[in-house]
Amino acid sequence: MSYTEQFAIGKLKLPNNIFYAPLAGCSDIAYRTMSSQYKPGLMFCEMVKMEPLVRKDEGTYRMLRYEEPMRPIGGQICGSKLELAGTAAKIIEDLGFDIIDFNCGCPVDKVTKDGSGSGMLKHPDLIGAILFEMKRAVQIPITVKIRTGWDEDHIVAPMLTQIAEQAGAAAICIHGRTREQGYSGNANWDYIAECKKLAKNIKVIGNGDVFDAEKAKALFLHTGCDAILVSRGTMGQPWIVEDIRNLYANNRLFSPSPLEVKEVLLKHLRTILSYNEERKSLLDFRRVCCYYLKKFVAVKTLKAAINHAENTEEVFSLLEAFNWEPCIGTIL
Ligand SMILES: Cc1cc2nc3c(=O)[nH]c(=O)nc-3n(C[C@H](O)[C@H](O)[C@H](O)COP(=O)(O)O)c2cc1C
Repeated sequence: MSYTEQFAIGKLKLPNNIFYAPLAGCSDIAYRTMSSQYKPGLMFCEMVKMEPLVRKDEGTYRMLRYEEPMRPIGGQICGSKLELAGTAAKIIEDLGFDIIDFNCGCPVDKVTKDGSGSGMLKHPDLIGAILFEMKRAVQIPITVKIRTGWDEDHIVAPMLTQIAEQAGAAAICIHGRTREQGYSGNANWDYIAECKKLAKNIKVIGNGDVFDAEKAKALFLHTGCDAILVSRGTMGQPWIVEDIRNLYANNRLFSPSPLEVKEVLLKHLRTILSYNEERKSLLDFRRVCCYYLKKFVAVKTLKAAINHAENTEEVFSLLEAFNWEPCIGTIL
């Protein structure tokens, strides 16, 4: 496959096949508001755990807030308890989500210690059983996101592609790293290609190391995957889908100029403020602006000043006063 407009996962019609990942601690409502302007084929809220979801924990529900322009939007659940899977999936459906993903990739010890996240990779049959329960409970499509295996000696992605297909999942997203790798090394796209060859009806979504449009094209070419999930590549460049669209349409990149990035930064700060109180907005923006400024040179003093700013008013002034012109042409 390659970039395409009008793509379907099960009954769900999507505007294209470039998706924005669930990112715990990052893909919050402000982040998704910014992303939605560039129209990815699908985007996700941050992962939520089944247990607090089922007990109607307020903070968990807050993470699942979304607004209509964010559609198509998915919810992602994480857990290992078969008896909660159907109920948790139904809650996501009742909240109005378009699709539900089951997380079998999170590498964090806190998550894997009860067998959740990538801990599930050690129990392929349980993944199948949970997907089956989820599918039984809802009408919307069910998907699963995995890593290739716990470690290189235990690669399970091909087997899980078949298990997920049999359980009725409409798509499987494969992050081409093992749990042992964490985020280091390269994603091994060969495993994604192998899964795509085995898949009959289930869609295969490739994931790992797509940081620019050329990498998206390379992943499609290398694996033949049906769609791509962009994760860290969306951080500080919510326009990446626009870049990919342009690359396929006219072989040119959309890449905004430093002055345009400044406008996006100002907008991101206003968006954060519209959902959060002052102090949290300041802290959230400090994190977010680092991603946007990562590829610029000559922004060291700006970054330091933002980190020392006492309030968001000061941050607005710093962004306005900064001389962005010398940065022109310095985006890598
Ligand atoms: C800060 C951060 C948070 C993440 N949160 C989630 C999450 O909530 N759910 C999930 O399935 N994957 C999560 N991931 C993993 C990514 O979705 C993705 O699989 C991984 O980063 C590899 O893709 P990339 O190389 O394109 O970044 C997270 C990754 C990062 C860096």
